[in-house]
Amino acid sequence: MTQPRNYHDVSQRILAICEGEDDVITLMATMACELYHEFDGFDWVGFYRVTAPEMLKIGPYQGGHGCLSIPFSRGVCGAAARTKETQLVADVNAFDGHIACSSSTLSELVMPVFDKDDRLIAVLDIDSDKADFFTQSDVDALTPLLTNIFAR
Ligand code: SME
Repeated sequence: MTQPRNYHDVSQRILAICEGEDDVITLMATMACELYHEFDGFDWVGFYRVTAPEMLKIGPYQGGHGCLSIPFSRGVCGAAARTKETQLVADVNAFDGHIACSSSTLSELVMPVFDKDDRLIAVLDIDSDKADFFTQSDVDALTPLLTNIFAR
């Protein structure tokens, strides 16, 4: 992956579809669907929601079966929730504590999702069957989109 992916069209589409919508699950479902279908190599796209202190539960997603619950102490998703920082993992097998929902996942990008009061409400998890598939350019494109959708 050398060229940055072009998020322009999918971002515009998500923003247009979600205009005026404020239900968080509806927004998550729409974003997961649009991102999953936009890019080859996005093999799992979905949200884990903060449903209790230190606990994530599966939210809207596209792709194969996802684990139902992830404590903040576990996995890439847990690390993103715990630190409130994006986790760009080029090789999941080198990530201590990675949760293998699918053995085909080789790399992943997990970003914290905040509401308008800057509270952590979820993480966005994007997994790929290709190694080293995500770059800072993905983070740079997704950050304003997450803000525009969930923190408005
Ligand atoms: N890989 C994630 C778990 C979620 S699934 O892959 C859908 C993790 O380690 O947090």
